Amino acid sequence: MAEHVQTAPTRDPHPAYPVGLRLAGRRVVVVGGGQVAQRRLPALIAAGADIVLVSPSAKPSVEAMATAGEIRWERRRYEEGDLDGAWYVLVASSDPDANRTASAEAERARVWCVRSDDAEAATAWTPATGRSDGVTVAVLTGRDPRRSAAVRDAVVEGLRDGTLAAPRHRAPTPTNTRTGAGEAPENPQPPTVALVGGGPGDPDLITVRGRRLLAQADVVIADRLGPRDLLDELPPHVEVIDAAKIPYGRAMAQEAINEALIEHARAGKAVVRLKGGDPFVFGRGMEEAHALAAAGIACTVVPGISSSISVPGAVGIPVTHRGVAHEFTVVSGHVAPDDARSLVDWAALARLRGTLVVLMGVDKIGPIARALVEHGKAPGTPVALIQEGTTAAQRRVDATLATVAEVVRAEGVRPPAVIVIGEVVALGDGG
Ligand SMILES: C[S@@+](CC[C@H](N)C(=O)[O-])C[C@H]1O[C@@H](n2cnc3c(N)ncnc32)[C@H](O)[C@@H]1O
Repeated sequence: MAEHVQTAPTRDPHPAYPVGLRLAGRRVVVVGGGQVAQRRLPALIAAGADIVLVSPSAKPSVEAMATAGEIRWERRRYEEGDLDGAWYVLVASSDPDANRTASAEAERARVWCVRSDDAEAATAWTPATGRSDGVTVAVLTGRDPRRSAAVRDAVVEGLRDGTLAAPRHRAPTPTNTRTGAGEAPENPQPPTVALVGGGPGDPDLITVRGRRLLAQADVVIADRLGPRDLLDELPPHVEVIDAAKIPYGRAMAQEAINEALIEHARAGKAVVRLKGGDPFVFGRGMEEAHALAAAGIACTVVPGISSSISVPGAVGIPVTHRGVAHEFTVVSGHVAPDDARSLVDWAALARLRGTLVVLMGVDKIGPIARALVEHGKAPGTPVALIQEGTTAAQRRVDATLATVAEVVRAEGVRPPAVIVIGEVVALGDGG
């Protein structure tokens, strides 16, 4: 007689049925104010749920949500009747009796109940979730939370870096656009340009959103500064236009850049204007946003990590430090202090105790240092110049206000460089 071979079941005969709950304004009861509540509450708050927390105690971050009015906290043990009016309950306390009572009440009242202590006794399971660009990813693997999280991470990562294509087939509701009225969902997508701050140069220092938009672009108009290495990764069909704003040298006129943005957007292309640092820190980003608005083209602005903070940080200089500098000021040094076009009050800056960060100031550092000393800054004030920060060519040169003009000449310091003036320089590692 043939033996029966027992095989492990490979699939759940009744897998969980996935659904997206629309909880805005609907009562959700959370039992227990510990770590599970801390992790789950932000998503429930984001969903707009009317949340009641029932728990004698709560973690400080959960208590802060109650203080901020994001949840209502009943500071006591769970009682029969607490689920009145609830649509959904999360049972996650360290009190087994409270968990059992709440779960039994949920069953009687037919309220979907998640249990952190006993998944088998729950009537609902929380998927591993992630979000990227309007897509919610929710993964259930049936009692294998690590596997769910791994699948979630892979999908979200792919959506974020653009390796997982998720083209829109309906126009998004404009949330982060500067112009353009709402479109009916069935309308084709209006032309859009993304002004993306690329960070200081290291390709890892662009934002997740910036990188995703870059991966979806048909046309990229790029500055000399910023993460140039990322341009190599673009597929061959992507048109890369060099805006080449080389300091004091050849420059594509801003109007020409504006025109190129408008022309390609009108041709239906996904256009990314990739800029160094942050688009709104000496980046002329607002001029481009205005030009696009005047042409009726919506524009998404993606912030970037400005060189003014990140480049000093890359050589170990903090722009603020407790007991040393309680402020930092970022100024443009592209015109000398005695130039009629200068909008900078150098006399006021000389009086400040905090850190001064000068961008575009290499060529004018002599007159700048002189003006600061004339207005009372100590000649011995430390100065650091960081050239090509966060790139392979990064270098740091140290001086004082008294010596910096000569040091820049002798060392051949060239733009782009961030100049840091103040006592915080002495905290760094000296290069
Ligand atoms: C036109 S401004 C643009 C600033 C940019 N929007 C930002 O937020 O960093 C250009 C100046 O930024 C500074 N800069 C930008 N990237 C830099 C880098 N990687 N290393 C040193 N300086 C940098 C230099 O002072 C350069 O002359």
